[in-house]
Amino acid sequence: MTIRTKITGTGMYVPDRVVTNKDLEELMDTSDEWIRQRSGIVERRYVSEGQLPADLAEAACRQALEAAELDADQIDCIVLATLSSQADFPGTSFFLQERFGGTLPCFDLRAQCTGFLYSLMVARSLVASGQYQRVMVVGCEVHSTGLDFSTEGRDVTVLFGDGAGAVIVEANTDEDDRSDILEVRLHAEGKYAKKLWVEAPGTGLPGRITQEMMDRGAHFPSMQGKFVFKHAVTRMPQVLRETLDAASVKIDDVALFLFHQANLRINEYVANHLEIPAEKLRNNIQRYGNCSAASIPILLAEAEREGILKRGDLVSMTGFGSGFSWGSAVVRW
Ligand code: COA
Repeated sequence: MTIRTKITGTGMYVPDRVVTNKDLEELMDTSDEWIRQRSGIVERRYVSEGQLPADLAEAACRQALEAAELDADQIDCIVLATLSSQADFPGTSFFLQERFGGTLPCFDLRAQCTGFLYSLMVARSLVASGQYQRVMVVGCEVHSTGLDFSTEGRDVTVLFGDGAGAVIVEANTDEDDRSDILEVRLHAEGKYAKKLWVEAPGTGLPGRITQEMMDRGAHFPSMQGKFVFKHAVTRMPQVLRETLDAASVKIDDVALFLFHQANLRINEYVANHLEIPAEKLRNNIQRYGNCSAASIPILLAEAEREGILKRGDLVSMTGFGSGFSWGSAVVRW
């Protein structure tokens, strides 16, 4: 890589509607205690009627643009990571692009909860190769409109929330500025695709979905929770180490660790395993649940706003999710 890349702006948006564990108790056989103990989640945000993924993404992007002191027409490309597309096609990125006008290219990237890290790799490559100067990356999810709120869906439904987070990736040509996306490492294991998935609608199915499928809830996410948990706690430390090693960075040198927000217990386990001190790990799952591709950029935006992230610091980001997919990035802020 010849051209260094810098994250020059971050942004986030979560809907105003707060849904607590107690609220979910009204809808299904669950309890605040079960959800807190197993996942760490206290509340999450859901969109209000009529609020679209592109609305969330736009708000996050406008914040990131403002932070980077850029206008939308200075961006060369939008990469939008999501597993909850606004329509079957085109991708959510096109509904977002419409808000900015012009003919700015855009595309969706589907790598589920690792989608932001996959997108960061793409943005870094586009900028480092000289293809583009500035790429806007946004992770955006609206889960709440596609969850099973009966007791049957409780194992998955209680975990997810809606939100969006965005960053601007720019070429860094200032020799005195060490900011850089130093390394991104990605992995996938498609043989486990069905361990956490939404089966239908799908183009491999006659009519894409049948009444029988609707009746058995094939259009809701299904997850083998314990299986996913085991793989997450194995793969996350592996890829985090691999990425830091590739960048010749030691765990002790990292100022801030941001993990995907699937389960507080997963994150605490990974941090303990790697002997990462609690004060260097930031979580927000308590307030937002699992926002899939949006979780890591939301964490970044919050950390920056709260002054936790300082220029020159090393920040490590790691995620695991459906696919299975997993990855890690280390950035000199
Ligand atoms: N409320 C109350 N009880 C629930 C519940 C809920 N929301 N969801 C499941 N249960 C019940 C189960 O039915 C089961 O009951 P049983 O023992 O009578 O059969 C019991 O709680 C234990 O369920 P189990 O699935 O064994 O719980 P767990 O300790 O594995 O925790 C998860 C469940 C989902 C929190 C955990 O497996 C997990 O976090 N997995 C990984 C999630 C992840 O990483 N996902 C996505 C990556 S993007």
